Amino acid sequence: MRSSTQFELFAIAPPSLEQCLHQELSTLVPAASPTLVPGGVTLRGDLCTLYRVSLWTRLATRVLLRVGSIVAVHFEELRRKTAALRWSYFVKQPVRLKVSATAHRCRLIHTGALAERVEGALQDAGIVITHDESAPLFHVLIRGESDRFTLSVDSSGELLHRRGYRQQDGGAPLRETLAPALLRLSGFQPNQTLCDPMCGSATLAIEAAHILLGRAPGLYRRFAFFDWPGHDATLWQKLLDEAKSQEQTALPRPIFASDRDPEVIALARRNAERAGVLQHLELHCVEVQKLKLPSVESGLILCNPPYGKRLKEPRLVGLYRALGMLQRRSAGFRLAVLTTQRQLAQAAGVISDEYWLRNGGLRVGLFSITTSQRDKLSRDASHDRAHSLPESL
Ligand SMILES: C[S@@+](CC[C@H](N)C(=O)[O-])C[C@H]1O[C@@H](n2cnc3c(N)ncnc32)[C@H](O)[C@@H]1O
Repeated sequence: MRSSTQFELFAIAPPSLEQCLHQELSTLVPAASPTLVPGGVTLRGDLCTLYRVSLWTRLATRVLLRVGSIVAVHFEELRRKTAALRWSYFVKQPVRLKVSATAHRCRLIHTGALAERVEGALQDAGIVITHDESAPLFHVLIRGESDRFTLSVDSSGELLHRRGYRQQDGGAPLRETLAPALLRLSGFQPNQTLCDPMCGSATLAIEAAHILLGRAPGLYRRFAFFDWPGHDATLWQKLLDEAKSQEQTALPRPIFASDRDPEVIALARRNAERAGVLQHLELHCVEVQKLKLPSVESGLILCNPPYGKRLKEPRLVGLYRALGMLQRRSAGFRLAVLTTQRQLAQAAGVISDEYWLRNGGLRVGLFSITTSQRDKLSRDASHDRAHSLPESL
């Protein structure tokens, strides 16, 4: 495979974060024409595009490379047409094979039979399939829609949210891909001070540090494309060197992360150390009710507090009120919380904005909170005044 060969790529987004991923990739690889589609973003580009996206995306779950698209209404036809695709681009022999199949509105609907035919087709194409655990894993995905089947290979290997720094978590952790999305959705800016007062395993703080330092999330990981015969190790190394040379070594202000649980803070510290950002965090074991933050020009308190199961559970309402109070006594900070229940967010203050997404199978909202109804009214009034100023001003 030549490095200039053009491919169609598909970056899979975490549920409800397709738009965020589209924004990220539009900045990262604008020439690859990132296009928003259900479930993710399609791109067109060469090996360098694939490498750049894999190295830098903070949001994608994995990146697939389209091998081909065929129409089939009989299993025999599917096997024959699949075998004719250009598998030799991606496969060094022998490989351990994994096939994931889905089909909607197709005559060939049985996913087990689809996977079986894909395996047969690869063998027809001369690929040796083994169960030897030391052989590279070759993950093929077949997706049928109205008798058209798209065949893709996974280029990522381990899912991209597994960054490797979190070997244990403090309970109900955020996915590492969700944390940068929350920072983006809450409007966090590099000149702002960040605080997560219920930090658990410190996912938000660690991901924020990586963003501010400009550290590429894929710098130290292994990708499935390393095993492809066409892998260009020189090009990959060049991108790694470029990424390392761009990275900042210091941050202008620390990131504040705290939790009331000493064991959780010890774990957060280990995670931050593994992620290479411990020196950029101020980690404290303190209850949100007692936390004191410095006055800042501009700051963001962002966290996912415990959700609880029952609506308006009194202990939880108190916890969310305490978050609102933390924001009111911390000059310069605004507040955003991720939670399952609107009523809980309302206990922290007045909701000015919300964005619903999914976290670990639950529907959760990211709520921007203004301190009180009075604050909101005075803010809205000044906004209205600003908008009714004579044009000459
Ligand atoms: C859902 S977890 C946060 C998970 C975290 N975002 C992560 O990625 O690991 C909620 C955290 O809030 C902490 N917590 C609960 N009540 C608290 C309080 N009053 N003050 C500070 N932390 C509290 C818990 O110890 C727990 O670690």
